[in-house]
Amino acid sequence: CGIVGYIGPREAYPIIITGLKRQEYRGYDSTGVALINDEGLLIYKQKGKVAELEETLIGKSLHANIGIGHTRWATHGEPSDVNAHPHKSAGGKLAMIHNGIIENYAQLKKELINKGYTFRSETDTEVLLNFIEEIQKNSKCDLEEAVRIALKRVSGAYVILLLDQDNPDTIIAARKGSPLVIGIGKGEHFLGSDATPMLEYTKEVVYVNDYEIAVIKADQLILKNLGNEKQTPYISKLDIELAAIEKGGYDHFMLKEIHEQPSTIYDCLRGRLDAEKGTITMKGIQDNIQALITAPRYIIIACGTSWHAALVAEYVIEELCRIPVEVEYASEFRYRNPIINKGDVIIAISQSGETADTLVAIEKAKEQGAFIFGIVNVVGSSISRASHAGAYTHAGPEIGVASTKAFTAQLAVLLMIALKIAKEKGTIDNTKYSRLLVEMHELPEKVEAILKNASQLKLIAEKYKHSVNALYLGRGYNFPIALEGALKLKEISYIHAEGYPAAEMKHGPIALVDDQLPVIFVATKDEYHAKIVSNIQEIKARKGKVIAIITEGDEIIPSMADDIFMVPPADEIVAPVLSVIPLQLLSYYVGVAKGCDVDKPRNLAKSVTVE
Ligand code: G6P
Repeated sequence: CGIVGYIGPREAYPIIITGLKRQEYRGYDSTGVALINDEGLLIYKQKGKVAELEETLIGKSLHANIGIGHTRWATHGEPSDVNAHPHKSAGGKLAMIHNGIIENYAQLKKELINKGYTFRSETDTEVLLNFIEEIQKNSKCDLEEAVRIALKRVSGAYVILLLDQDNPDTIIAARKGSPLVIGIGKGEHFLGSDATPMLEYTKEVVYVNDYEIAVIKADQLILKNLGNEKQTPYISKLDIELAAIEKGGYDHFMLKEIHEQPSTIYDCLRGRLDAEKGTITMKGIQDNIQALITAPRYIIIACGTSWHAALVAEYVIEELCRIPVEVEYASEFRYRNPIINKGDVIIAISQSGETADTLVAIEKAKEQGAFIFGIVNVVGSSISRASHAGAYTHAGPEIGVASTKAFTAQLAVLLMIALKIAKEKGTIDNTKYSRLLVEMHELPEKVEAILKNASQLKLIAEKYKHSVNALYLGRGYNFPIALEGALKLKEISYIHAEGYPAAEMKHGPIALVDDQLPVIFVATKDEYHAKIVSNIQEIKARKGKVIAIITEGDEIIPSMADDIFMVPPADEIVAPVLSVIPLQLLSYYVGVAKGCDVDKPRNLAKSVTVE
């Protein structure tokens, strides 16, 4: 979910609506705002996206200088008008929005029902809100104190923002696990799940820490911990510009972000990789080089697309650095009592830096003494702060829900890390090292060349848009790219797609092959090229339709495949950065051809701050 708040001399409503639109990547199944003005506490909310609520509110009483807003990704209770946030307390004076999950809500709800409370919605949020109200009533304390007492009883993750009709000059906020950013203006404050709602107003922000409660007035910000001790807010400077979160002439953020990749990869390499001098400069690696070289094992944890980047890294690090690597889904790792030995290094990969499963997984690993290296895109995010060291991917804000430019930036960072460690450890010879640095340096240009041919993929998309299933196959470094291609197609076009190692296909998925099934081969030139050619034959022998991503100059595959797309030649280790681009474009064009909302696919959210 995304949360927004404003208090100060300006009109709160337009700031909240704009802020919510920018945070819709976090969830968009229902929307709501709460305002306080002369008429009292006003709550407007409904199922659907922010623009739909905005439409309904034309002509309503919206003039206010304090307000909060919410865009939801449903956890407890289906998307509906009643389950939408903000919720109103039973007494009618408090309004609250919440991002996260209150795990013990059933117990709290039982207690409240015994006291005579009834509930309008099925949400855990309404339970917490009434719990707070009940404490305030019984203890005769102020709202801040009631929130503090309530949160001590709560397990789970949350960010909450509260308005109180009787105190129309204050917003109360609290966080544990889910992100909360407070923007500091002159005589005004802005709140958001990220910094996007406040970009045009201030560059000074405070990232609230877990277990902190904020009492926010127009000209005052007080942060306290759950023990009621004042905390000093640490003010950070934002370096994102407004243009970075706008569509800039593209039809969709996803397309814009795909096309940004030459420059995002360049930005990621800039100041780090110097192909002429043969150097890679990464402070997080240099400062910890001994720990990284001597580690008996790396464990990489991530979710979704970031997990696919981790799989590529497994192949590359094992090959170049000769260090065993395990790749884990964060959600599995955190619950299975993982074995972490002395010296093991945990690498956490996350675009948002807020994914709840990844965040908790690294906290668990930290408890066991592991060294945590974070690879994160969003500067100042929770995972970046929870890591001992790390490297940012510098891809800029990624708004499209399906990850594209963040993925290639993750690959670029991971490749640099692998090369740097291999060099320091002496597991790579100088010629190969120098050659790979040059290859990395050439990536932006090669990605540019691929993007020039994007229209070819549009034609292929038209041809296959009515498919019900699709199979993606690749070997070696391109196997994770097959997984990523399948994930992209599923997310964006709702076509069921599976990624598989090309040879493993014989042990199951081959049963699906018929003359209707598109099989997308990621078959760029590598050591196993002859093997993947055989796999293509196996599919063709069963009348499957073959779409192949191949290297320019390939003379074999074009005669077998139904459709081909060529990428510039590259060493197999860096090839995944190139071969994924046509797959991103293919899923984009299929999604658009099918009329899907590619930037906000159904049921998904970009930043999943619940487990
Ligand atoms: C969600 C997004 C995916 C993303 C995954 C992990 O599922 O829809 O695009 O890959 O979360 O997110 P992270 O921010 O941790 O990389």
